[in-house]
Amino acid sequence: MNIADLVTPNFLVDLDILETNIGKMAAACKARGVALAPMTKTHKSTVIAGLQRKHGAGGFLTGTLDEAEGLVNQGFDNITLAYPVAGRENVARVAALAGRTDLTICLDGAAAARELDAALSAAGRKIRYLIIVDCGLGRFGVAPEAAPALAAELASCSALSFRGISTHPGQAYAASGPEDVARVAQEEIQALAAAKKALAARGFSVPVVATGSTPTAEPAMASGVVTVLRPGNYVFFDNIQMALGVATEADCSLTVLATVISRPRPDTLIIDAGSKCLGLDKGAHGNALLAGFGLVKGHPELLVAALSEEVGKVRIVGPTTVTVGDKLEIIPNHACSVANMTSSLIGHRRGLVERSIPVDLRGGTRQPPV
Ligand SMILES: Cc1ncc(COP(=O)(O)O)c(C=O)c1O
Repeated sequence: MNIADLVTPNFLVDLDILETNIGKMAAACKARGVALAPMTKTHKSTVIAGLQRKHGAGGFLTGTLDEAEGLVNQGFDNITLAYPVAGRENVARVAALAGRTDLTICLDGAAAARELDAALSAAGRKIRYLIIVDCGLGRFGVAPEAAPALAAELASCSALSFRGISTHPGQAYAASGPEDVARVAQEEIQALAAAKKALAARGFSVPVVATGSTPTAEPAMASGVVTVLRPGNYVFFDNIQMALGVATEADCSLTVLATVISRPRPDTLIIDAGSKCLGLDKGAHGNALLAGFGLVKGHPELLVAALSEEVGKVRIVGPTTVTVGDKLEIIPNHACSVANMTSSLIGHRRGLVERSIPVDLRGGTRQPPV
């Protein structure tokens, strides 16, 4: 079957491009002697995680406990939870996971650490932790020079063993272009180097220095500071990565397939994909470089100008032959959000459908026993 014969809207992944992206990142990490632990929140799929593992990923970084549990259920090991966990119910899930896999958590404060330590101690389990350093995103994390104080404070948590530091330069997504991305990469590297130095000066050995963002992956792995790279978006790339100069259209593996269902005015087409397929966000942290809500492949004369929930408004900005009934393939602004909006992706090679890829690590719908 050809993708042109699929019902719409639909979510497509070009398997050749996906595999190339996965292979290139793995090869680059290997060449630099940096371990690769991709972030699974991008694809939330054990099939894609399996491809990453096949290409040499030695572990995984998860955005949610659902992702971590789903990976462990399918036999994946060496899992790092990207964010702290708090609250009895979710802390109990971490303690349970600790009994099933090689688990690491990223922490940035004593409150969550102590709650977790108590639950792990009660269960007779131990896990490793990394201190999150803020490299300028202003989300999680301690200042680099504050890392030793936190490590010293957490030394009394007998179920938590210190392994190193981590960061995420998400501010790269608000960058004004390639030079600005390079500046963010320097912030990322300098913050990690400063935290490592401060920790070493207080007698802490820092075997793990972890970071990850697709825009800054190259300079991070070349820095000589980073030991583990944890990128996510690189498997798909998207419109925001193109705007930042990180990827080209040929690198983008994930698209939304839509049909033109109306031409209500000479300058307007309506498609059957809206915000519930393409998403309204302009990259993880917003970016003014983006015009519209996706890039229509092969049609620079079309601008995805506005999205309702189930339909999108496409402005015709140049001569076009596109007409009602035609199908359009759209590269989304933010592929990670789009993959989270479907339970399966259609994998194809040069337009020929090959397989369905379950998005099986999504969560948020766990029902209590009633
Ligand atoms: C802590 C952390 N690490 C790594 C990543 C992956 O970043 P990217 O998708 O830019 O590769 C993210 C993304 O949100 C993250 O929050």
